[in-house]
Amino acid sequence: MADYDSARRGVLKGAAAATAFAAISKAAAQQRSDTDPRELNGQPVPEPPAERSAGPIRPGRGSMLSDKVAVVTGAARGIGRAIAVEMAANGADVVAIDIAGPVSTASNAVPATPEELDETVRQIRSYGRRGEAIKADVRDIAALRAAADAIEQTFGRIDIVVADAAIQRWVPLLEMQDADWRDVIDNNLNGTANTVRAFAPKMVARKKGRFILLSSMQGKHGTKDASSYSASKWGILGLMKSAAMELGEHNITVNALIPGLVDTALTRYEKRLSESIGETGRKDEQPSPQQAWDIRAPTVPLKVGWLQPDDISPAAVFLASDAANMVTGAEYEVTGGDSAKDI
Ligand SMILES: NC(=O)c1ccc[n+]([C@@H]2O[C@H](COP(=O)([O-])OP(=O)(O)OC[C@H]3O[C@@H](n4cnc5c(N)ncnc54)[C@H](O)[C@@H]3O)[C@@H](O)[C@H]2O)c1
Repeated sequence: MADYDSARRGVLKGAAAATAFAAISKAAAQQRSDTDPRELNGQPVPEPPAERSAGPIRPGRGSMLSDKVAVVTGAARGIGRAIAVEMAANGADVVAIDIAGPVSTASNAVPATPEELDETVRQIRSYGRRGEAIKADVRDIAALRAAADAIEQTFGRIDIVVADAAIQRWVPLLEMQDADWRDVIDNNLNGTANTVRAFAPKMVARKKGRFILLSSMQGKHGTKDASSYSASKWGILGLMKSAAMELGEHNITVNALIPGLVDTALTRYEKRLSESIGETGRKDEQPSPQQAWDIRAPTVPLKVGWLQPDDISPAAVFLASDAANMVTGAEYEVTGGDSAKDI
């Protein structure tokens, strides 16, 4: 564990060094690396304007978010917190939004707390960046619009919005209460659409922006006994691709981040452990966490039982960076190799 932690700190120190290097070498790297004359039969081949290109090669450009303003929903803990903190570690000011309390009876996870949301802000600030918390429910679009206005006033602009807030429900279709379907769709799909609809006007006005929507591998295939969660995550992919088509003309990119199984409060309970090894064909009723890891890891190409939240966040940083200027309408999977089994 110590090696693991020091390796992660090394990555973050490396990012700081890359900032300095990027500044030093900026002048030297203003030109594209190729010397292609860009013509065909004497006729010039058009090039895109600067804002419609990832631009010339620069050290660290895929991990630098210097002075950008990011908003992350579901940021009190788990993957949302990792994304918020990793963005701060790479130069962004970050507003962390979370309900920080109970969401629905149709949630298997223990509710996040205001203390966890405060801890996210503490970690953001530990990288010398501005961090603020807003306690809000993504099902309430009026609250999100008020948050967008307040953030724009305080921070001057909004460059990046990550829609991460979600709940998960494991229950067979034949045993569902109405809330098991309705609340999961309302929270995950409608809440994500609310987030896009509330913040997009701010980006349209500035002709620049980034949306990163959290889907799931369960949004790419069916999930036995978790149909409402699976449907919500498929829906997010439809929303992402449609929004990318509509918002592209405003120079706004919209992409989906697709984690594999990650150890968070969303997944750390007995039913999820038995479901995770159920995918391997084993039917052990109540495996211990170690048994679940040992059964599942050999089936994953990179031989882990599950990933960590900060395995996911670097991909979010890339998608939010200028290096990803021309990436939109895309699904970005971080799964330890489970992706290799799906189309
Ligand atoms: N953990 C995994 O294995 C996994 C895998 C694939 C995708 N995901 C997705 O990643 C995202 C983060 O998941 P996580 O594992 O970190 O979960 P988590 O439960 O640890 O964090 C989710 C956060 O969202 C907040 N939230 C939920 N509903 C909200 C609402 N209506 N308004 C405001 N905040 C709300 C919660 O309070 C919580 O802090 C989710 O979209 C999830 O579907 C997770």
